[in-house]
Amino acid sequence: MALPRSPVVVITGASSGIGLATALLFARRRAARLVLCGRRHRAIEAAAAACERVGSPRAIGLAADMREPAAVEALARGALREFGRIDVWVNNVGVGAVGRFEEIPLDTHRATLAANLGGVLHGCHAALPAMLRQGRGVIVNLGSIGSRLPQPFATSYIASKWGLAGLTESLRHEVRGRGVEVCGVYPTIVDTPAISRHRGNFTGHALRTAGLPALSPERVAEAVLDVAERPRRAVHLGAAHLAVPAFWMAPELAGRLSAALAGRALFRGPPERHDPGAVEAPMHASRVETRAHASRAVMPANPLRVVTRGATRGEVAAGVERADDRGGARWGLAALAAGALWLLAPRAAAQAMKAAVREGGNGIR
Ligand SMILES: NC(=O)c1ccc[n+]([C@@H]2O[C@H](COP(=O)([O-])OP(=O)(O)OC[C@H]3O[C@@H](n4cnc5c(N)ncnc54)[C@H](OP(=O)(O)O)[C@@H]3O)[C@@H](O)[C@H]2O)c1
Repeated sequence: MALPRSPVVVITGASSGIGLATALLFARRRAARLVLCGRRHRAIEAAAAACERVGSPRAIGLAADMREPAAVEALARGALREFGRIDVWVNNVGVGAVGRFEEIPLDTHRATLAANLGGVLHGCHAALPAMLRQGRGVIVNLGSIGSRLPQPFATSYIASKWGLAGLTESLRHEVRGRGVEVCGVYPTIVDTPAISRHRGNFTGHALRTAGLPALSPERVAEAVLDVAERPRRAVHLGAAHLAVPAFWMAPELAGRLSAALAGRALFRGPPERHDPGAVEAPMHASRVETRAHASRAVMPANPLRVVTRGATRGEVAAGVERADDRGGARWGLAALAAGALWLLAPRAAAQAMKAAVREGGNGIR
């Protein structure tokens, strides 16, 4: 199904990270007419203005909280009022918190599920009637490698992303043959403000964010555009997906290893106070940026121009680390080897796992 010229594209969570990179790419590459949503008025209007500067003939920013069904219905109505149709709807909003399950406030868990899974439910429900009437349309849902693997200490985020995958795959087959495609994009870690500032941190420790194996948001944006142009069931991005077959082969081993590794990564930094991040309420009234650490290097100049030029070049600015996924490949291959070992020599694998858990701890005091 080819996209029409200057398609009408709705993108949720477009004031930051992957959503912003995707909006800029649709504007630049497809001259898309855009409806962008986030909770912050000024930020989403700034993102829309940036899209018009790089090629969108018309971009509007509408503040809406995806946890609220009425707000999402209003978003769809706004798109239809302005442009008369919806060609692509990208459910990109995602929030999350890390920490021991019982120490993360229940309101934070609930807000995570409400935004990440409820938001996708509301988005699909709002977009689908218009698309079915048109007899065409593409819905793209942003999942994660966390839609395919368990991840201890990020429980509600992972629950929301497994739910998103189930919703995406089920709805896809329900509407098959009626002109509407429902697709999932599942990246590994992406270098966005989500990993540096927006996620909640209830571990009691500072988290390492610089130098993680990560994809660039522009890479994920390319995948979203590609799946909108050539709809298919799923796109898995990032080498750490090599670990997924290890989970199919040996789910208990994979779960225990991931608890050990997460324990090591999350609970060893210097002590730090609990930080609610942007899960329940947004932070920084007007800041818009695609990358995790861009602000340090370049924000004092002119944030919007930097974001705009950066996305155009595929880099935010000189002096900002390139996102690099090589560490993800090493990790994925190691997990795959562990899964194979578990199948071939379970006793040796059990001993190796015990050693890894002893070495790493699992964050349980
Ligand atoms: N970064 C990663 O490592 C990674 C990896 C795999 C998958 N993903 C997925 O990719 C998607 C985008 O993540 P990102 O890293 O780009 O995150 P991000 O930079 O933190 O951006 C999140 C966006 O969502 C908006 N938002 C948050 N809660 C909202 C709500 N209730 N209603 C409306 N808008 C809301 C935020 O805007 P406001 O603050 O203005 O509301 C912001 O525009 C998410 O679904 C995430 O789970 C990310």
